[in-house]
Amino acid sequence: MKTSDFIKYKQENKKIKMVTAYDFVLAKIAEEAGIDAILVGDSVGMVELGYDTTLPVTMEDMIHHTKAVSRGADKTLIVADMPFMSYQINAKQGMKNAGRLIQEGGANAVKLEGGVEIAETVKRIVDCGIPVMGHIGMTPQSVNAFGGFKAQGKTAVQASKIIKDAFALQDAGAFSVVLECIPEELAEEITKRLSIPTIGIGAGAKCDGQVQVISDMLGMTNGFVPRHSKKYANLFETAVEGIKCYEKEVDESVFPGPATCTHISKEIIEGLE
Ligand code: KIV
Repeated sequence: MKTSDFIKYKQENKKIKMVTAYDFVLAKIAEEAGIDAILVGDSVGMVELGYDTTLPVTMEDMIHHTKAVSRGADKTLIVADMPFMSYQINAKQGMKNAGRLIQEGGANAVKLEGGVEIAETVKRIVDCGIPVMGHIGMTPQSVNAFGGFKAQGKTAVQASKIIKDAFALQDAGAFSVVLECIPEELAEEITKRLSIPTIGIGAGAKCDGQVQVISDMLGMTNGFVPRHSKKYANLFETAVEGIKCYEKEVDESVFPGPATCTHISKEIIEGLE
């Protein structure tokens, strides 16, 4: 899938399926599953680097992880998140850093959080030939302004601001927009009004596509999992069980078994000084 196919999917009423990935192995798994697009999310900060928010994630972190993902999934569309304060200062800063994610990271597109206030930056990045995915609603980089990771768009004022943001991104040339943690009814309304596709996370089933954080949906941690996620596998438990089994077999001298060892003849051993 290419960014230009997003609009075709919407027109043909075909759902767009995205997951996040942060490294070579996860990218390989997502590509093998035939996912439409991979998001190298700045959620890497919380999921893989152990931070409480996405705010400490740097451009260097994003480039490092995007490179690994693009090595693991060279046939899948890769969208890389622009981290906090890598585009908010001015359009020039946004263009420079978007370019780094494409040139150094190997991404095919970038994603920015925000609406009206970043529309000019989005336009300038698009004008450089870099496809942009927008991200509005509960934008995690604004966690301090929201007073926590709280659903947005529940009041008429908030909802009409989110609609304005969606149009500002579409007018600026974004090829799609992520709607995060907003009411399903509002997501449906935005999806109907926009000509570019909406990709939902915690925004109900009426969006043109869905994105999920891979570690949540595959049960890769035993920590907090958001309400809007669903566990399709339990890799954490499977992995712990696997390691426990290995520990037991080493204790009992069952592992390494004959099939894993190489041998030399008794004569060589006996002839050793
Ligand atoms: O960083 C991320 O994982 C994201 C998704 C929540 C859309 O931006």
